[in-house]
Amino acid sequence: MVIYQNISLKPYNTFGIDVQANQFVTVTSIEELQVLCTAFNLAERKKLVFGGGSNLLLTQDFDGMAVKIDLKGMDKIKEDDDFVWVKAMSGEVWHDLVMYAVNHNWGGLENLSLIPGCVGAAPMQNIGAYGAEIKDTFEELYAVEIESGKLVKFTNEECKFGYRESIFKNEVKDKYIIVSVTFKLHKKAQTNIQYGAIKETLQQKGIAEPSIKAVSDAVIEIRKSKLPDPKVLGNAGSFFKNPEIEASQYEKLKVQFPNIPGYPLQNNLVKVPAGWLIEQCGFKGKRIGNTGSHKDQALVLVNYGGATGSEIYALAMQIQQSVQNTFGITINPEVNLI
Ligand code: EPU
Repeated sequence: MVIYQNISLKPYNTFGIDVQANQFVTVTSIEELQVLCTAFNLAERKKLVFGGGSNLLLTQDFDGMAVKIDLKGMDKIKEDDDFVWVKAMSGEVWHDLVMYAVNHNWGGLENLSLIPGCVGAAPMQNIGAYGAEIKDTFEELYAVEIESGKLVKFTNEECKFGYRESIFKNEVKDKYIIVSVTFKLHKKAQTNIQYGAIKETLQQKGIAEPSIKAVSDAVIEIRKSKLPDPKVLGNAGSFFKNPEIEASQYEKLKVQFPNIPGYPLQNNLVKVPAGWLIEQCGFKGKRIGNTGSHKDQALVLVNYGGATGSEIYALAMQIQQSVQNTFGITINPEVNLI
């Protein structure tokens, strides 16, 4: 394990922001990580732990230790007549795991095709797309406790998953590093195609009873058609979370804005697509300097090349303020601001 000094983080974040980290280390085994935690006293250091760097906005040089988790491997560890349990190490690319499952015809991850990032980051924010979230197939994970270096298991219930939320963003934030995740996947095809865009894409292709592969292909097609590829145009996916507002506030807004979309939730709440709010405020496709809101999906902020993190942050704050002024709704970032 080598600790490097003054390393650019540009290749390690999908926004492509060029800031430097004082120290940089790549971890390739659980044992190495445990040594870093104990002998190098990671708990006491300022640290930035990351995998794919696809949900980060780096706004300044990082005067601490950047730790890239590069643990590899994925395998079937158990099966019965109906299910198969697949364990993946946290440094595996998320989409590679999805393809591994799809190619074996194991169901449950196909709606989450092509989400950027690594396996270890997926449970942190309970990644989701097209009517599925990882909590639906998540069995358990192992994480190293930074303070002690001990390996600890978390069950689905213990992770306290919510919309883009888990215990790792709340009660135990910065206390653990996820090293592996196990998923329980269906052996008998059981697809989830209720989400509008998937239904439409499959209908256009004339597929009535889609295979797992067909659903994955549809999701890949939809994502490619409206979400920019970070390798071509720097971005971190959705920049903001979709806000949840009181049903009464939603009804009032509906009078003023009859087209406002909303999805009813429990507890008298309604989820409103932030992309719609941002588009109404005139930001969709608008470029400001080296940054802007994407032309096909207003919720995605992009780096046209050479943008600084503070430039993107300034645009995000401008958008947040504009949505607040127009609709009285606060939209909060989904990405981690560093
Ligand atoms: N919309 C607009 N204008 C836009 C974008 C969206 O009006 O520019 C409205 C439309 O009414 C559309 C609705 O928003 O019907 C929903 O849009 P979309 O299906 O693209 O989903 P989203 O709510 O904007 C969420 C996730 C995405 C995920 C998609 C698909 C969040 C914060 N984002 O976006 O996740 O891919 O659903 O399921 O929940 C990510 O987290 O990085 C991400 C891309």
